[in-house]
Amino acid sequence: MTKTYAEFQHAWRELATLPAGALLNRDERDLVHLTLERYWNDGSPSGHSLGMPVRWAPASPAPSFRIPIILAPADLVTVVEDLSEASILVERTSDALHQVFALHPRMRNVLAKQQLLPGDRNSDSQLRVVPTSSGRTVAVLDASGFRIRYYLKLAYPDTLGRFGRDLSLFKWLSSIERNRMFFDAIGGGDAIRFFPEASGSYLELMGVSHGVGFLLRSMPMGHNPDEHLVVPAFSLWAAPASGDETILDALVRRLGWTSADARHFLIDNVVDTYLYLAVDHGLMPELNAQNLLFVIGKDGSCVPCLRDMQDVFVDDVIRARRGLSVGGVAYKRLNVVSPDLRERRSFSFDFKLGEYILDPLANIVGRNDRARREIRQGVREKVRQKLVAHPDYWPSNNTWFRYANKPGLSRFDYDRHERPRWR
Ligand SMILES: Nc1ncnc2c1ncn2[C@@H]1O[C@H](COP(=O)(O)OP(=O)(O)OP(=O)(O)O)[C@@H](O)[C@H]1O
Ligand SMILES: [Mg+2]
Repeated sequence: MTKTYAEFQHAWRELATLPAGALLNRDERDLVHLTLERYWNDGSPSGHSLGMPVRWAPASPAPSFRIPIILAPADLVTVVEDLSEASILVERTSDALHQVFALHPRMRNVLAKQQLLPGDRNSDSQLRVVPTSSGRTVAVLDASGFRIRYYLKLAYPDTLGRFGRDLSLFKWLSSIERNRMFFDAIGGGDAIRFFPEASGSYLELMGVSHGVGFLLRSMPMGHNPDEHLVVPAFSLWAAPASGDETILDALVRRLGWTSADARHFLIDNVVDTYLYLAVDHGLMPELNAQNLLFVIGKDGSCVPCLRDMQDVFVDDVIRARRGLSVGGVAYKRLNVVSPDLRERRSFSFDFKLGEYILDPLANIVGRNDRARREIRQGVREKVRQKLVAHPDYWPSNNTWFRYANKPGLSRFDYDRHERPRWR
């Protein structure tokens, strides 16, 4: 069934104002997912707001906006893999001399001002998109108007949150590389899901900006829009956007989870996922609350789902020990000579997973101090067991590393702390 744009707008307005229970009962699961992405979010604990003009911001009430699809000289564009999934991008206008290329409207303006693109927008096609929580990644819906066809991760010229959001060559290429490694580690398995970033295009430019990329992000393998609702981790503990029930309470009520189920699905499985990737595959995903999601099945199942291949650190020390391929794009890659090998392992586990995910999850899943203590002990035991064969993994058992909460930090600006909470 195809929705007209007016029908889509109407459905969107309705979903955006529903309380948790009513929202989760709706059949338009992909649109419910986008509603959670945009409105059931208290923001990053770093406190830095996204800082995006309101007409493109996820929190804007507008259901969607349009991005320009430009025609770029084909000899300046590198295409990786198959963009046919994004047929709207390739069918329309690509030919032997031109390649269609997706840009964020803000990026188009900046490049046109630097005279890197024609200022004339009349030659652009437009694509209607729905923003996600990161702002620069946008969802493209299919003709039905309530299913996600794919996402586009776009370059953005300014800082969003704490960091710049360019997609320069090394970030673009490493995303595609890390996606392959994730595919080798996880594939289409049932226990862990992730959003593949297998393809994209890169446009070479002159001058200050050497070029920009975009990535095509697909739905997780095995995603069935009739069965699965994808819930961002941050939505679980966000203050209710409508009514007074939280998303977690509505899920628990609807799926009949016990507190042991909630702990198993939301905490233990996430820790197992992290340890499997980090210790068995040398892949350290950046698990902030925006990069972790859960795929909730109609049958009450719940599987962790990861996104953002750009932020995955590769631990070649572990990979070499495991007989896996080492070397590749040098961005976010650790080896025996990296000065911050152990600091980064701690940062990734203790700070990102621990502070951004496990702390808030333990607060809502554990109903009292005793339950929270038990959750913590369970996680510590898992970590200890997993690392028996790697006694040199952490900087020390009593030290952990995080970043201070200030802007403009570089990779090596770690703050050292004592008494890790989660190991
Ligand atoms: N609840 C939240 N927790 C953390 N970050 C959030 C949250 N809500 C919005 N954000 C924004 O999401 C972005 C997270 O950064 P990250 O590097 O993971 O994403 P990205 O690479 O820009 O995009 P994507 O996740 O789509 O790949 C930041 O811009 C941050 O401000
Ligand atoms: Mg992200």
